[in-house]
Order: sequence, then structure tokens, then C-alpha cells
Amino acid sequence: MKKGFKWVTALAATAALLAACGTDEAETTADGKKVYVAGTEATFAPFEYMDEKGNVVGIDKEIMDAISEEMGVSIEMKNVGWDSVFEGIKGGTVDIGASAITITEKRQQDYDFTTPYFEATQLIVVKSDSDITSLADLEGKKVSVQINTTGHEAAKKAFGEMNPDIAAFENLPSAIMEMLNGSTAATIADNAVVYEYMKNNPDKDLKVIEDTAFEKEQYGFMVKKGNEELLNILNDGLEKLDANGKLAEITGL
Ligand code: ARG
Repeated sequence: MKKGFKWVTALAATAALLAACGTDEAETTADGKKVYVAGTEATFAPFEYMDEKGNVVGIDKEIMDAISEEMGVSIEMKNVGWDSVFEGIKGGTVDIGASAITITEKRQQDYDFTTPYFEATQLIVVKSDSDITSLADLEGKKVSVQINTTGHEAAKKAFGEMNPDIAAFENLPSAIMEMLNGSTAATIADNAVVYEYMKNNPDKDLKVIEDTAFEKEQYGFMVKKGNEELLNILNDGLEKLDANGKLAEITGL
């Protein structure tokens, strides 16, 4: 009897494994909830950062939790790194990009996005004694950015695609450090994140410069192109959170 049971268990496990390999179907929890992995780059407070216990926290995590609750799914947030959010979605190890990702036409060719949940723009951040007052003042100067972000794009757009004076880093804190130690004249990055950095680092004498050359941006959650099922879950969830006021509560708007 015992032997027979083991055999059946092994068969069932193999079948489950084959099913999991063969399709893009999400796993389920013991209580039948679909499990999704949300990838992020967690050095981007207030949207995503790590707490002392090593958990991802912040606005995107809170929205993912609230959508999970509204929609009866389970979303696990993982700090995979910025480029790996994009590669992971293509490769199938990440289901959702939840990383303060700006919806751009270029990205929309390869991924699908939810409805926007936050409006942003780029800012220039410099040391407070800097004489830079506009984007144009950065001509011929070295700028640091987080690689492959809209800040990076804005720098290229302003000073040319092949500009050797753009120093691009894996994460924003490294780009800011480079400016602080004097290796670059300025950093270009998302406004809310720069303001949060300044709030959290009052000892680092910084000032921001706004410039009308920077366009308005919208953050969205990103999924594999054509993953309509997941996109609908996220959009329905966002709609509910918008209607019941939770989204505004979480984003502080
Ligand atoms: N909004 C910008 C972009 O989409 C920067 C996002 C960076 N996010 C992060 N978690 N580091 O390009």
C-alpha cells in the first residue's frame, strides 16, 4: 500500500512538472491562488528599497500587495536588478515589472504596460554650490545616470547618443555618489526619487534643477507582450484601488 502511494505521488509530481514546463501557466498556492513574481531594482526609494530584514518595501510593493488582496492572487516581489527586470520578463523568470518603470514607446514595442499609476519627470541634481542652472549648462560636462533609464535617455537626447561624458551605473545611488565625489557635474533621475534621496541624506548638500526640456512620464507595471490574463488582473486591481482611494493613499497623492 505504501509503495503504491509513493508511485502515485511520483506520477502526479511528474505530471505537474511537465505541465509547469510546457506552459506559461502561473503556479498556485495551497489555497488555489495564482502566484506571480514581480521583479524590481530596490535602491529606488520611495518606490522600492530594502528594509533591515532584507524585504523589498515601498510604493510598488504596497501596490502589488493591495492588488493581490483585491484580485485574489499572490505576488512575490524580488530584487533582481534593473536590466534583469526586462530580461527576466522576456525569459519567463519574472512575470511583472514593478520598478517605477516609465511607459515609453520603445518599451511598448517589446512589453505590455498597465494603465499609468504615477506621473513623474526627470530632474537634474547637483551639489548645492554648483553653478549649473539648466540642462543646457551641462553641455560639455560629465553627467551620471542609472543605465537604461529614462534619465539615461534624456541625457543622450540632450547631448547626443555617443556622448562619452555620460557615466551610466547599475543603480541610482552609485550615479549620485559619482556626482558627490566630483567625478561628474550632475545626475539626471526621476523627480520623486531624487527628492526622497535628499530627504534621507540631509548631510549631502544637494540641490535640484527643473528643466522644461524634460517631458512628463507615466509609471506603469510591465508584463510580457501578449500576457493579457495578467495584464487584466493588474489593470482591474488598479481600477479598484483607484476607485476605493487606496492607490492615492499608497502613492501619497
Ligand atoms: N522611471 C525610470 C525608467 O523607467 C527609472 C526607473 C528606475 N527604477 C528602479 N527601480 N531603479 O527608466
